[in-house]
Amino acid sequence: MHETSSVGILTSGGDAPGMNSAVRAAFRSLKMREPDREIVFFREGFRGLARRLDSSSDRSVDRRAVRDIIHRGGTFLGTGRVPELVLPAADAPDRSDRLAAREAFLRVAVANLYQMNLSHLVVVGGDGSFRGARLIADTFRETFPKRPFSVVGIPASIDNDIFGSQYSIGFDTALNNVVDAIRKIRDTVESHKRAIILEVMGNTSGWLALQSAIAGGAAIVAIPEVEATHDHAAIVSRLAAGVRRDYRYFIIVVAEGVQRMVPDWSQHLAEKIELDKATRDVLGAPMEVRINSIGHLARGGSPSAFDNTLAGLLGSAAADVIQLGHLPGEAAIEGDVVVGCRGPYPVVHPLAEVVAKSPRLVTEESPLFQLSEKLMLQAAQPF
Ligand code: F6P
Repeated sequence: MHETSSVGILTSGGDAPGMNSAVRAAFRSLKMREPDREIVFFREGFRGLARRLDSSSDRSVDRRAVRDIIHRGGTFLGTGRVPELVLPAADAPDRSDRLAAREAFLRVAVANLYQMNLSHLVVVGGDGSFRGARLIADTFRETFPKRPFSVVGIPASIDNDIFGSQYSIGFDTALNNVVDAIRKIRDTVESHKRAIILEVMGNTSGWLALQSAIAGGAAIVAIPEVEATHDHAAIVSRLAAGVRRDYRYFIIVVAEGVQRMVPDWSQHLAEKIELDKATRDVLGAPMEVRINSIGHLARGGSPSAFDNTLAGLLGSAAADVIQLGHLPGEAAIEGDVVVGCRGPYPVVHPLAEVVAKSPRLVTEESPLFQLSEKLMLQAAQPF
């Protein structure tokens, strides 16, 4: 244990419901074992590390700071993305300016960490935040080789695409938000006998779209990882097969990653459905299509019981790693790490491995993808 050093905590990247519970759990678990150890909160993610500390951090926080936050969505510490921490492309026209800005940011951040006598930084965020954390930790150790310092990451992202954790904090709440939206949209789409295309966040991965489509009973899901799912012609012929079997409305869920790969994907699909002759022949008129986007609504609201429990588990595991050097009953682990979950159990992976293997993507072999194939509308559906 580092008796006199302090522990910093921040939330970073896209906010995720349950981040507050993770901060609270880390705080409470650390204080339970070492009530006198200083805990520092940084505001607005990594920005809080590289500004004037008196306005961007709270030192010696006490238990009142984590009262009445467990039920709130978002993050009471504030969050953000820091473009300075992203390495510019080799051919970026402003590369040298950006490299200089990056260096300046890192210089201030590590000097602040040193000055505050921090031995550990808990970073609650997604894989982009973990990349930034790794850079900061490496720079700190290069600059101050004699001072022990490490990062403990806690996965929090509605995308659920962080290697080393079966679930990330916020995913379950977002999933329930999207399923709720699907249920509401079903009322209107059924009344009008239309097709609805519902766009769902998820960055480069399709987990949120896939699982919400399964749980919400969608007819079709399109995810970036499996090209066959975003083929317009295949979707149109599945819908035509559907109308021949008396389906009169359809819910199509599409992950945002598909839209990035194929610009105007939803618009073009809507046009193709409305123009499809096979569908028109059965219905006597074109099938009407509407496009909706759930966007950031998926990220808001009170965290689900599952997310708060997961946040409690991971926040407490982070404290174990910091204070014991390992999870109870497990071997010691050194360096920067990420605490994740396998079922109800915490697990630890090196930060470098998590960064290298994230985002964790859907594959055709993923059990959830296989399930979607069985449960959704197919052109050759034999019943
Ligand atoms: O990573 C979470 C996420 O909501 C992604 O699904 C989405 O691509 C991104 O953040 C949106 O970022 P922002 O809130 O910065 O627009």
